[in-house]
Amino acid sequence: MDIYAAIHNRSSIRKYKSDPVPEEKITKTLEAAQAAPSWANRQCWRFIVVDDEGTKENLAASLPEGNPAAKGILQAPVVIVLCADPSASGSIDGKDYYLLDAGLAMQQLMLAARAEGLGTCWVAWMEEDKIREACSVPEGYRVVGLTPLGFPEKEAKPTPRKNLSEIAFKDQWGNSFTG
Ligand SMILES: Cc1cc2nc3c(=O)[nH]c(=O)nc-3n(C[C@H](O)[C@H](O)[C@H](O)COP(=O)(O)O)c2cc1C
Repeated sequence: MDIYAAIHNRSSIRKYKSDPVPEEKITKTLEAAQAAPSWANRQCWRFIVVDDEGTKENLAASLPEGNPAAKGILQAPVVIVLCADPSASGSIDGKDYYLLDAGLAMQQLMLAARAEGLGTCWVAWMEEDKIREACSVPEGYRVVGLTPLGFPEKEAKPTPRKNLSEIAFKDQWGNSFTG
C-alpha cells in the first residue's frame, strides 16, 4: 500500500475480528516502529506484544470506565504495550522528548499495520500502575500507551480534520498557508 493511502485511510479501530494476526505481520509493524527517529538515536522505546487472554483482560481492566477502546482490547488477538525510558531521551524547556520518541514509533507501527490490513487504536487514557503490573514493566520505564492490533470488523473510515487554512501558516503566524 502506498504511504499516502495508509495515512489517509487510517482511523482508530475499536471493533475487531477474532482472526489471528500472522506473526510476520506483527514483526513488520514492529520493524516499522524500530525505524522511527529518536532523540540521539537512543531508541528509548520498548514494545510488549501481548496475546495471552488473561493479560489482555488485565489490560482492558486497566482502562477507566468509559474508555471506548476497552472492548477492542479484548476482541483483538494482539495488544501492543508501548513503554519508554525517559532517562534515555532528552528534556528541554520542560518538553520531555521520550513521549515524542515513543509516539513517533507508535505512529509508524500504526501506519505499517494499516498497510498490512490491520487496525489499531491509540490508547493513553489508562491506569498506568495496573498496566505496569499486568506486564511486569520494570522501574524506570513509563507506559506511554497501547494499541489493539487485529483485523478490523469494518473498514477504517477517516474522521474529519480542521481545514488546512486553520492549522498551516505562511511565514507569520496567522497568515494562512492556503491563502
Ligand atoms: C495520545 C492519544 C491518546 C488516545 N487515547 C485514546 C483512548 O484512551 N481511548 C480511545 O478510544 N481513543 C484514544 N485515542 C484515539 C483518538 O480518540 C483518535 O485518534 C481521534 O479521535 C482521531 O480519530 P482517528 O484516530 O480515527 O483519526 C487517543 C489518541 C491519541 C493520539
